[in-house]
Amino acid sequence: MLSQIKEALSNLENKKLKEKYMQIIITMFEKGYFPGLENIPVAKSSVSNIDGENGLLTFRGYPIQELANNCSYEDVCFLLLKGDLPIPQEKKELKKQLLASKGIDSKIKETIISMNDNLHPMYMLSSSVLQLQSNDPKCFDLDQYTVNLNRAIQLIAKLPTIMGVYQTQNPEFAQGKTFDSFAQYILYCFNQELAAKPKWVNILDKLLILHGDHTMNNSTFSVRAVGSSKASIYASISSAINSLSGPLHGGANEKVIKMLTEIGAPENVESYIQEQLKAGEKIMGLGHRVYRTYDPRALYLKEEILPQIFAEDSPEVNSKLENLYNTAQKMEEIALNKFADKKIFPNIDFWSGLVLRAMKIEPKYFTTIFALGRIMGWCAHWVENLEVKNKIFRPNQLYDGFNTRHVLRDQLK
Ligand code: ACO
Repeated sequence: MLSQIKEALSNLENKKLKEKYMQIIITMFEKGYFPGLENIPVAKSSVSNIDGENGLLTFRGYPIQELANNCSYEDVCFLLLKGDLPIPQEKKELKKQLLASKGIDSKIKETIISMNDNLHPMYMLSSSVLQLQSNDPKCFDLDQYTVNLNRAIQLIAKLPTIMGVYQTQNPEFAQGKTFDSFAQYILYCFNQELAAKPKWVNILDKLLILHGDHTMNNSTFSVRAVGSSKASIYASISSAINSLSGPLHGGANEKVIKMLTEIGAPENVESYIQEQLKAGEKIMGLGHRVYRTYDPRALYLKEEILPQIFAEDSPEVNSKLENLYNTAQKMEEIALNKFADKKIFPNIDFWSGLVLRAMKIEPKYFTTIFALGRIMGWCAHWVENLEVKNKIFRPNQLYDGFNTRHVLRDQLK
């Protein structure tokens, strides 16, 4: 059988694709199913692409580094949603539309403010997104591309406001204030003092761009799966936020800072790693399903962003933060060595927490910032999913339970 499959695949010229299909077929034979859907294509998409062997990530064909170097949140939002970079007038209009649409209904603001402090901010965010549906009764009419696109922009605009209202507990939050860019508004929602400093707005802008999209990851899969039932954008994005909250996905950025704080100093890193591995635990911020080399987003943070933050004259850096940075650097050095054979490298969450900590943002809010970047990609996938011939996501399972059996009435008495 294997030789027949090999023969059938021999006409395929693309070597990488051939290897991928071979692996899928072998898994099918060996296991009968695909744990974690690893390597299984579930949709055709033109939003982003990863070459995991060579550490290349592109949005609509543009390498992520070029976008981070040259573009703003508005540029990348336009690119992901509409397929190409905007001309200056289009960018201006999108910025205007985003900033003009950031307001939320007063009843929803009351609900946001009344949420229990013990609720994790990611769940506060996902439940608030669901609440937004109450102001959009036509949200189940999904047939028009431009209406879907505008609905996505409206939602993107409101996410930071949810965070600002929640953190300040002020329903009047940001009312009457003007902003130069959407990234400045986002920073204002987390740190009003730094939002007045162009250096920090620029750093956040780049961080949000790096998070913009990432092919068929767990949260994007959630958007497409929920959206495929023709549930609303609010239901789809809310489930994506819930998926992102997990520590094996975006929630790792919060866990990494907790881990570095617990480790305490560079000299404790080696023993920490040994203990974790002995206990069969993963090290947060390391590893990736797709990359077999350094995650290009993590590399950008390491090489372009963190050196700016930890420059000698940086007033925002104190000895505590410096110690976290030194501990992370030590961990990276040991991990690159120790895990070289397994091709495990730092991912974006390994370094992003340090950037956010330098912005004096509390760790419990880290993953919400990830969501404020990723919402651009989620919405692009939601729109794209409605444009292609929609087929409801409904995979199969290998049933592994009882054969049919019957209720014995006497047993229940
Ligand atoms: N620490 C130690 N070992 C690891 C790690 C890690 N962080 N990641 C993977 N490995 C090892 C596994 O133990 C496994 O080893 P084995 O083959 O000897 O059993 C091997 O590498 C493959 O790991 P899997 O868990 O099977 O890889 P998978 O593709 O399923 O998981 C994931 C990828 C979830 C990212 C994993 O690397 C992980 O849990 N990392 C830590 C959490 C994290 O940083 N998540 C953020 C990911 S990036 C993002 O979502 C934005």
